[in-house]
Amino acid sequence: MAGSALYSEILEVVAADVRAKGQFGELLAPVGDAPYADAVGLRLLAGLHRLVLEGLAPELAAHYPSVGGSLRGRESLRAGLLSVLGAQRPALDDAVRANVQTNEVGRCVALLGGFIEASEFGFPLRILEVGASAGLNLWFDRYRYDAGGISFGPANSALRFNEPWASEPPNLASRVLVQERLGCDANPIDLTTPKGALMLRSFVWADQLNRLSRLDAALDAVESCPFVVERADALDWLRPQLGSRVTGTTTVVFHSIVMQYLGHRQRAELVSVIEAAGAEATSDSPLCWLRFEPGGDQATLRLTMWPAGESRVLATSAYHGPPVVWRPRLATS
Ligand SMILES: C[S@@+](CC[C@H](N)C(=O)[O-])C[C@H]1O[C@@H](n2cnc3c(N)ncnc32)[C@H](O)[C@@H]1O
Repeated sequence: MAGSALYSEILEVVAADVRAKGQFGELLAPVGDAPYADAVGLRLLAGLHRLVLEGLAPELAAHYPSVGGSLRGRESLRAGLLSVLGAQRPALDDAVRANVQTNEVGRCVALLGGFIEASEFGFPLRILEVGASAGLNLWFDRYRYDAGGISFGPANSALRFNEPWASEPPNLASRVLVQERLGCDANPIDLTTPKGALMLRSFVWADQLNRLSRLDAALDAVESCPFVVERADALDWLRPQLGSRVTGTTTVVFHSIVMQYLGHRQRAELVSVIEAAGAEATSDSPLCWLRFEPGGDQATLRLTMWPAGESRVLATSAYHGPPVVWRPRLATS
């Protein structure tokens, strides 16, 4: 698995066990028909990580850098995995059925450029996030971004991105004013509960300590912010939101790594709901559609701006954020 030696090893062990019709084969059989995009492997890895973080998998903890461990060889890892599976089967049964719930604040580095572009209409922003998880990316303006001596965001933010662009950054001196922020998620993570924070941490790959500390810093940075994510399906929520447009405001609909979790028909409907709202947009109530979604081995940030309806690729990025290559006006889609 790209970017995680530990998770590559775990998946090798699990795959060998499935081929041998072992206990992991039994665990995964009920979700064997799930589409590839549901990322059942990530669900299992998060379930295991959750048990480790809760102190319920001492046999595995020694391998997990997130709790001070390190990789110790495949045989010992295999023994630990099988032992945890034996002891914690109900928790893992639940984990492989539950959707992926990553909330990756690193994606804010790419998204920020889109919010800067959307602010060029000269209006404050009303930002609407579909598939917001815990809503951490709705608070992108509570984090600090530094590049080439220019900064965006509060100087005292607990989360700082230092030179996160592998290119010229967007114009960090721009003024971005968020007037309203709201999100929806089919299964939002409530950060006001300890269980919510545990759930988020469990979806970070256990040997990516920089991502774990980034998440912890984001949780600090938004500690006093209200919870703005409603439990709702993407389409049910977005239709009425787009029905009420406010003059003198730029509405920005955005999503990151969400499309693959919607069904084929739901994806098409979401696009048509946004495009229909775009057709109604005017120069004093513009609409932007910002999306950070897979584009091969990188994620691509695209922006469509109405009333003109112009679409552009703004950036490419690693899936979890930096390094981000900012490339305004270089490509059209
Ligand atoms: C991989 S996470 C990405 C979360 C966040 N956008 C980010 O980039 O950190 C995908 C999110 O989409 C949500 N989701 C999946 N299907 C959905 C639907 N039909 N309506 C609303 N949210 C959905 C999941 O619950 C999950 O929180």
